[in-house]
Amino acid sequence: MPTDRMLIAPSLLSADFSRLREDIARVEGGGADWMHVDVMDGHFVPNLTMGPFIVRAIHRAATTPLDVHLMIDDPATYAEEFAAAGASVLCYHVECREGGPETALKINSLGVRAGIAVRPDTPITAVKEHLPHVSMVLVMSVMPGFSGQSFMPEVLEKTRALREEYGFTGDVQMDGGVGPETIADCAAAGANVFVAGSAVFKADDPALAIADLRSRAEAARPIRR
Ligand code: DX5
Ligand code: ZN
Repeated sequence: MPTDRMLIAPSLLSADFSRLREDIARVEGGGADWMHVDVMDGHFVPNLTMGPFIVRAIHRAATTPLDVHLMIDDPATYAEEFAAAGASVLCYHVECREGGPETALKINSLGVRAGIAVRPDTPITAVKEHLPHVSMVLVMSVMPGFSGQSFMPEVLEKTRALREEYGFTGDVQMDGGVGPETIADCAAAGANVFVAGSAVFKADDPALAIADLRSRAEAARPIRR
């Protein structure tokens, strides 16, 4: 495993953008490890969110690394702008128009960590040729586009395959419907980075929600020989 700690990455898609600085401070104060930023272009997914301009503003307000999830067709074309905006990790989708391994090389050349994301309806074999060039795989557990959807347990097989069949030792992140009911299964399958939108921002106490998620993940950590 790449890290001793289970990492919690609240998805800002569920934050209140009229008071973004306070929401970021609240989850960072509550122990969040990374800020997960969902970029959508209205082409790759049927929703539009934010571009480099907003990512830059998030970077100014945040003290933790920005984990930028690019749900766009042209991640290589825009990589430089997102790197300049302050991204620490840039994750592109294997299914998108510029979804070849050369996109990872482009991202790495900018001094940013590259990650590869895979939709629930794409087999994990699709990411195999990317693995030597990325430090993270994002296994999506909902169809990308919206927060608040239900977790799809069938994708856990992909997380397991990454660890057990492919021997991938980088970060494995799960995104979509991750919450107190589902995080243990994700951790047991081998994930170590957990994106949570609704489970953190819709909670009465986001700090408590983060601590609870982390302890559930840590308790379910697989024992590997
Ligand atoms: C969906 C996004 C997710 C989403 C997670 O396309 O990639 O990051 O915001 O939200 P929840 O945790 O509510 O499913
Ligand atoms: Zn995401």
